[in-house]
Amino acid sequence: MKTAIFPGSFDPFTIGHADIVQRALSLFDNIIIGIGTNSLKQSIFPAEKRLAHIRKTYENEPRVTVEIYTGLTVDFAREHNAQFILRGVRCVADFEYERNMAEANKHLTGLETVILYTRPEYAHISSTLVRDLYQHGYDIKEYLA
Ligand code: PNS
Repeated sequence: MKTAIFPGSFDPFTIGHADIVQRALSLFDNIIIGIGTNSLKQSIFPAEKRLAHIRKTYENEPRVTVEIYTGLTVDFAREHNAQFILRGVRCVADFEYERNMAEANKHLTGLETVILYTRPEYAHISSTLVRDLYQHGYDIKEYLA
């Protein structure tokens, strides 16, 4: 069984994230979406709400499960016997950050990170953008999975 964890803040979970999960289902048997804590970011949507929203998105997809975790991503992966970490990359600006994280996680546990590139039509969508729109009263429905 090939199991990947898909860690992130998902504040909120966007159509870009959902597209990565959908495409990764052809690579892995199971995907565990882990709602983690990014120490550099202040979240605005409560973690329990994010959990409920993502679980609803995958209520008919038994190969995708969703959990909140605290602590290190590699420990979360180990607890679930996951062999891979899945991440999406939108642009060059994401690249260094993802490379550092992948290298650190590989160094810590040997876990491989598999990167999928975001579809060009979703490349401008980030949770940060969606949060900003939300905080300024814009309707964000079209960005949510
Ligand atoms: O969606 P994000 O904010 O880019 O996700 C970042 C996240 C949550 C995956 C990252 O901050 C993380 O792994 N946090 C858990 C703590 C951890 O493992 N830190 C070391 C990363 S090398």
